[in-house]
Amino acid sequence: MYKLLRSILFLFDPEKVHYFSMNLMKKVCRVGVFRRLIQHLYTPPLDITNFAGIRFRNKIGLGAGFDKNALYLRELDVLGFGFVEIGTVTPMPQPGNEKPRLFRLKQDEALLNRMGFNNVGADLVARRLADWRKEHLHSELIIGGNIGKNKATPNEDAWKDYRICFEKLYPYVDYFVVNVSSPNTPGLRALQEKEPLRKILTELQELRTRMNVRKPLFLKIAPDLTEAEISDVVSLAHEISLDGLVGFNTTLNRSLLSEEGIRQAEKAGTGGLSGKPLREFSAQKFRCLAGTTNGKIPLIASGGIFYAEDARQRMKDGAGLLQVFTGFIYEGPGIVKKLSKSIAERNKPSF
Ligand SMILES: Cc1cc2nc3c(=O)[nH]c(=O)nc-3n(C[C@H](O)[C@H](O)[C@H](O)COP(=O)(O)O)c2cc1C
Repeated sequence: MYKLLRSILFLFDPEKVHYFSMNLMKKVCRVGVFRRLIQHLYTPPLDITNFAGIRFRNKIGLGAGFDKNALYLRELDVLGFGFVEIGTVTPMPQPGNEKPRLFRLKQDEALLNRMGFNNVGADLVARRLADWRKEHLHSELIIGGNIGKNKATPNEDAWKDYRICFEKLYPYVDYFVVNVSSPNTPGLRALQEKEPLRKILTELQELRTRMNVRKPLFLKIAPDLTEAEISDVVSLAHEISLDGLVGFNTTLNRSLLSEEGIRQAEKAGTGGLSGKPLREFSAQKFRCLAGTTNGKIPLIASGGIFYAEDARQRMKDGAGLLQVFTGFIYEGPGIVKKLSKSIAERNKPSF
């Protein structure tokens, strides 16, 4: 059924289709009977999970970048996600890169994007989240706030941008992710180096000590880090008692594509790659990350998760939660239930 719908949607521009589908979903969800039907069809059975002190109804989340501006929380709640990461949010609104900036590499079941942190800015996102909290008091959807810096902010001042977003979103999100791993903001990935990273994270931790409630702080890293760089990030995470790591963002490694994919990607231009080509690559990097943390830092796995076996493997390798993005586009909304059931079954005792 979804494959048929997908073949029609895939005839059109990916970014336009994204907003078209989600706005249509918004209209459908306004009607109670449809909303309950979708909920009934797609919500997985409860698989209560405690991660970094937060209670999740299941382990499957939607990765950052899908709902950058917190526009579709109700619809994503109805689709059964355990958590949704909004953002990346920057202090000031910014338009992002010129369009087209999102491309489907169909044959490889991949996406290439150079969105460039297009978002409405921290003030408006905070207002939307405040409204959501007021109107959906009983929702169990966990909301993460993925934060970044504006393009115009020089790297030496980046920590100020992260502080602004942290402060503005603090009352409304359940956890934070510091994003220093998107390839589409010039120089951003340099913030993954130990000293700039220490500055950003310790500033946020200091700010957190002034808040009444403690909210977990995670860091999202790129799969293109070498083993030595991963080891540096992990030692910093230990040193400052970071609450967790998200591994991984998109990759710049195009050798993961088929010949046709490489040709299509060359035509599309610069950008980060996500989806199927990341399946093996990020699984392997995740094993390296988990091995380095030695089970002592909570991990959220992201990158190329499509099938039950991907989900099971990532959990076996040490993930506490999983995030999908490109898999959701290619496999459809049924992916949440499918993945959640597959890992919940894994935990059932066998007699
Ligand atoms: C169109 C698009 C936009 C994205 N925007 C963001 C973003 O703003 N912040 C972020 O941390 N990750 C962003 N990502 C990365 C995803 O959250 C995810 O980490 C990555 O795509 C790998 O997972 P996947 O293979 O399941 O898609 C984006 C990905 C895509 C495809």
